[in-house]
Amino acid sequence: MAKIAWGITGAGHFLRESLDVAAALSGVEFFASEAGAEVLKIYGVTPPSAPREDKSASTFACRAFAAGTYDLLVIAPATSNSVAKFVYGISDTMITTLFAQAGKCRVPIVVLPTDTQEIIDTMGATKPMRIYARPVDLENVEKLKLFPGVKVAATAAELSAAIAEVRSRKE
Ligand SMILES: Cc1cc2nc3c(=O)[nH]c(=O)nc-3n(C[C@H](O)[C@H](O)[C@H](O)COP(=O)(O)O)c2cc1C
Repeated sequence: MAKIAWGITGAGHFLRESLDVAAALSGVEFFASEAGAEVLKIYGVTPPSAPREDKSASTFACRAFAAGTYDLLVIAPATSNSVAKFVYGISDTMITTLFAQAGKCRVPIVVLPTDTQEIIDTMGATKPMRIYARPVDLENVEKLKLFPGVKVAATAAELSAAIAEVRSRKE
C-alpha cells in the first residue's frame, strides 16, 4: 500500500473537507505547519492521527523522500502563503521544504489550495464567511499547475480523485 505524507497548512477553508478525504485512506502520515497546528485547534478538528510538527531548521522529515519512504505528498489545505512559497522555490518552513524535497526526489505531489477562485464562500471556525482571493493568489495557483509532477485540485472531490489516480499507478 502506497504511503502518503500529508501536509496541513494554516487554512480553515477546505480543512474539514481535506481531513474527511484523508480519513478514508490508509497509510497516511500527517505533518502540520505551525499555523496549521494553530488552525486545527481554532477549528476544533483533529486529523485521524497526530500530525508531526518538525521544528528543526532543516526539516529532518524531508530526508524520508530521498529514502523512498513516501509514494505521494499531499498538501491539503494549502494556504496562499505556502502556495506562493512553493511556486517561487522558497523552502523555509517544514511544509515548503517537504514540497521542495518531494519535487527534487520526483515524488508525486497533490495540492488543494484555498484560493482557486475569486470569491470563496467558506465555513469559518464558528460561522460562514466570504473571502476574496487576490490576483496574486490566483496567479500563483496557475503557476503551480505548471509544475511537473504536481496535480492541483480545486475541490475535495478533485483531491480525492487525484490521490486515487496517483495511487493506482503505484499499486
Ligand atoms: C482561523 C484561521 C483561518 C485561516 N484560513 C486561511 C485560509 O483558508 N487560507 C489562507 O490562505 N490563509 C488562511 N489563514 C492565514 C494563514 O494561517 C497564515 O497566512 C499563515 O502564515 C500561513 O502559514 P503556513 O502557510 O506556513 O501554514 C488563516 C488564519 C487563521 C487564524
